[in-house]
Amino acid sequence: MKILVIGGGGREHAIIQKLKEDPRVERIFALPGNGGIAADAVCGSVSAVDIPAQVAFAKANAVDFVVVAPDDPLVLGAVDAFEAAGFLCFGPNKNAAVIEGSKVFSKNLMKKYRIPTAAYEVFEDLAAALDYVEACPLPAVVKADGLALGKGVLICETRESARAAVRSMMADRLFGESGARVVIEEFLTGPEVSVLAFTDGETIEPMVSSMDHKRALDGDEGLNTGGMGTVAPNPFYTEAVAARCMEEIFLPTVYAMKSEGRPFRGCLYFGLMLTESGPKVIEYNCRFGDPEAQVVLPLLEGSLLEVMLAVARGELSKIDVTFSKKSACCVILASKGYPQHYEKGFPITLPEELGESERIYIAGAAERDGRLVTSGGRVLGAVAVAEDLPAAVAGAYDLADRIHFENAFCRRDIGRRALEARNGG
Ligand code: AMP
Ligand code: GLY
Repeated sequence: MKILVIGGGGREHAIIQKLKEDPRVERIFALPGNGGIAADAVCGSVSAVDIPAQVAFAKANAVDFVVVAPDDPLVLGAVDAFEAAGFLCFGPNKNAAVIEGSKVFSKNLMKKYRIPTAAYEVFEDLAAALDYVEACPLPAVVKADGLALGKGVLICETRESARAAVRSMMADRLFGESGARVVIEEFLTGPEVSVLAFTDGETIEPMVSSMDHKRALDGDEGLNTGGMGTVAPNPFYTEAVAARCMEEIFLPTVYAMKSEGRPFRGCLYFGLMLTESGPKVIEYNCRFGDPEAQVVLPLLEGSLLEVMLAVARGELSKIDVTFSKKSACCVILASKGYPQHYEKGFPITLPEELGESERIYIAGAAERDGRLVTSGGRVLGAVAVAEDLPAAVAGAYDLADRIHFENAFCRRDIGRRALEARNGG
């Protein structure tokens, strides 16, 4: 089979390496891929949002199956375009990707179907939003309705910062049209858990849970990033919590989307907070998380291709999806200055040999004169799989410390909270 993967980050590299384990896979193409992905797939210089060019590429290369991984093309309707051209696809249609594309949509869906989430109000009018923040509970969480590169959520401790957040989104259009509407919601507390799930619109198969580390610096300090590291499983997500999430969140969400005439087929990402009054949805994403995929997919037993084909064909109930009981940790090596300004173009030195339980997923690197050089903020993920979480964390740092490029930095505390929770701390 010839497979086309849309996207070009560490998540896509993890997907591609896992797909390649299936002997049916002849060749993988990636659009646009990156300099590191080029070792595992044929990369084409088509952007992840140029949907007509992607469809033309798929036709020219006679691909058999398409996997659309990032949020932007999904929300823009890439899967609809591929399906209209006759391709079998993994990923939600545009009318289902809206679960990530519009926070107003997802909040209203949760309210209608009584799925637990933070209490909220929606505003389309600047004056009404400003009025509301004069008396709302603090901290207030102000969210831009649309996609905002993961930056559209501001937690405001004071009225002044809440006013500023509302103005920046609605008046200054910091995130463009994504800020035309805002959601202002209740601030929740508790451990966060990411759960990715395969669903074909009827059946849902949650994957092993994970924990992201979104802030740039140790101790959860510094700016929000796309994610500086992950561990799986997440020790806060016990079997009892998982059973409750299935009952109160996962099944009701699949049912809600189907009932709305928007069956979700693909990977549905539940960003959960385990509050004192139970698990609540912080956000939905219409895709694999990055860097969650980098720890979850190595723990999938069997063929990712088989699961993705079953999802695409609406036959998920016919197969078994199982995960290893091992643990995994991903440490992101980033360019100094990320998520703000950073320099690029530094040569990357990778270890000559990787252990059987080690993986390197390249996110922001290009090939220059036959060498891999840095080309992004998050450069790569160093991943280790091991019998338990302490060994996985130690293994990921051991690998990260054998990778070198100028201006590299990583958090040194990935997995620390998970290890403390595991020790009952
Ligand atoms: P999101 O982009 O929706 O994942 O939000 C980014 C981060 O903001 C989340 O991972 C949470 O840490 C935090 N966050 C979002 N909504 C809330 C909320 N209602 N209460 C507390 N923290 C929140
Ligand atoms: N790691 C968070 C996300 O992919 O949205």
